[in-house]
Amino acid sequence: MWEKKGSYYFHVRGNVMAGNGVTDNVGEEVKKLAVQKVILVSDQGVMKSGVCEPIIKSLKKSGLHVEVFDKVHSDPSVRIMDEIAALVKKNGAEAIVGVGGGSSLDAAKGAAIVVTNGGSIKDYIGEKKFGKNPLPVIAVPTTAGTGSEVTWHISVHDEEEHKKVTVRSPLCVPEMAFLDPGLLKGLPAHVAASTGMDAFAHSFESYISTQGAWLLTETLGLESVRLIGKNLRNFVADRGNLEAGGNMLVAAMLGGMCLSHARTGIVHQMARPLGAHYGIPHGLANAIMLAYAMEFCVEASINKFARVARIMEPNLEGSSDIEAAGKTTDMVRRLTKDIGLPQKLRDLGVKEEDLDTLADDAMQGKTIFENPCRGTKTDLLKIYREAY
Ligand SMILES: [Fe+2]
Repeated sequence: MWEKKGSYYFHVRGNVMAGNGVTDNVGEEVKKLAVQKVILVSDQGVMKSGVCEPIIKSLKKSGLHVEVFDKVHSDPSVRIMDEIAALVKKNGAEAIVGVGGGSSLDAAKGAAIVVTNGGSIKDYIGEKKFGKNPLPVIAVPTTAGTGSEVTWHISVHDEEEHKKVTVRSPLCVPEMAFLDPGLLKGLPAHVAASTGMDAFAHSFESYISTQGAWLLTETLGLESVRLIGKNLRNFVADRGNLEAGGNMLVAAMLGGMCLSHARTGIVHQMARPLGAHYGIPHGLANAIMLAYAMEFCVEASINKFARVARIMEPNLEGSSDIEAAGKTTDMVRRLTKDIGLPQKLRDLGVKEEDLDTLADDAMQGKTIFENPCRGTKTDLLKIYREAY
């Protein structure tokens, strides 16, 4: 890449603090932002799990005034982000602490934009549609998957238009992220499994992407894949395994950094309609489609598939690229089976007669995906049939 003239991009923003129990220091760190009032954004499940209590305690111990908003739901809507922003303005909060999975973190990130830029989050749908820095966001993930704590993305459910849209800008990256494996102990095994495979899809798809991927993103993506291959089984088997949980948090964060720059591809393209039509959770939809959709790209990206295979199974070191690449999808299938995820769309209630509609829908979103190969509707329908 250095011999030809070129220009490669990577945006660095935000602080990451990691460690078992590191969230005990949230108050101390937030205090450094010179703020007095904060709002903690979460959902009722996370609140009930008790995860937020020590965080609130830490914030209060540092002399901060804390307001709690715990009504975030999965796939947060325009309405919820605007509602949080209105609450922040009303209370004069100066920072937002998001605690939870991707939904709570995205809701916090979306509200932070509305507070400083005005209007509604709907005004900022698309790429770099706002100019002012959002209110500082402190992200505390309680799943290891979306990487929302470091991404440029915010997924927004536009209830009026009945679709999922994206707000995207480097300014969306939170001011601080806390990676604390101690917070993952209460995560249900199936959530640990599906969100972990979402992280795999981010790292893998951005690694083979044809836009924005370069030595830096590829290095991070491959390390993320290696960490997931080595830790996801142990993490799903025991969410109290701090070593596996911490490594998965880092893998998910790396995946988030990669996808911000190099985007996702055909797997996410085909997973999205499964969420829209059947309400299948994002991570699970990606996990199901992964091996089937990946297979479609093998020939267009043999070298990269081979590197992924070798990093997941070092005993393939001496094998040819074609031989190693051909084993990648089987490795992914084995991984998803070992962590107890369903293998077929029919297992999730998808109807065979809907596959054509799903393929039509998947074609609609193609402009935001960066595949090494372009699939026609016929190709996508064939992949859905195989996955069915
Ligand atoms: Fe994803």
